[in-house]
Amino acid sequence: MAHLLHIDSSPRGKRSHSRRMTREFVEAWQQSHPHDTVTYRDVGRQPVPHVDEPWIAAAYTPPEQRSPELWEALSVSDRLIDELIAADILVIGVPMYNFSVPSTFKAYLDQIVRAGRTFAVDPEDAENPYKPLLHGKKMFVITARGSSGFGPGERYGHMNYQDPYLRVAFGFIGITDITSIHVENDEHSSESLAASIANAQAQITALTAA
Ligand SMILES: Cc1cc2nc3c(=O)[nH]c(=O)nc-3n(C[C@H](O)[C@H](O)[C@H](O)COP(=O)(O)O)c2cc1C
Repeated sequence: MAHLLHIDSSPRGKRSHSRRMTREFVEAWQQSHPHDTVTYRDVGRQPVPHVDEPWIAAAYTPPEQRSPELWEALSVSDRLIDELIAADILVIGVPMYNFSVPSTFKAYLDQIVRAGRTFAVDPEDAENPYKPLLHGKKMFVITARGSSGFGPGERYGHMNYQDPYLRVAFGFIGITDITSIHVENDEHSSESLAASIANAQAQITALTAA
C-alpha cells in the first residue's frame, strides 16, 4: 500500500488542464491500486505563505535554540514537509507561467526545500556539502502550457525553465524519479489542444496501470 500526495497549482478551476489531468491520474491510480491513500493539497487556490524574515531566522537557528515564536514561524513549512515525507508518490499539476512555474508553486517549494529537514549541509564535505534527505519517492508531474515545442532541441526548448527547474529543485532534496506528462497548446487550435490532451490521457492510462 502506497500513499499519494496530490498537489495542484493552477489558480483556475474547471478550465484548468493540469488540474483535470492530475484528477484523472489519481482516479485511474486508485482504480488500479484501491488500497492506496491520497492527501490533497491545492497551492493554486489556497496559496501557502511566502517565506519571511521570521521564517528565515527560524530555519537557520538550530532546533534546540529555537524560541516558541521561531517554531511557530516554521509551522506551515513543518506541516508541508511532514505531508511530503509521508508520501511515497507525488502527483503534481503545474502550469507553465512565463516559461517557469506559477509563483504559488515557487512559494510551496520555498517552504519545503529546507536545511535540516529535506536536505542537509555537511561543511566537512567541501566537494559536495548538500545532501538530500528524501529517498525512494516517485513523482509524476503534469504540466499545462499555452504553446508547444518546449522539448530539447525544439523551437522553444531554450526557454523552458519549467521542466529543468522542477528536476533541479526536487532532485536537490532527493526526488529524482520524475516522470513528466505535458498538456500543450491551450492557446492554439482546439484540434492541437485536443490531440495533446488525448496523448496525455494515453500516458496516464499506461502509467497508472503499470
Ligand atoms: C500568467 C500566465 C503566464 C503564462 N506563461 C506561459 C508561457 O510562458 N508559456 C506557455 O506556453 N504558456 C503560458 N501560459 C499559458 C498557460 O500555461 C496555459 O493556459 C495552461 O493551460 C495553464 O494551466 P492550467 O490549464 O492548468 O490552468 C501562461 C498563462 C498565464 C495566465
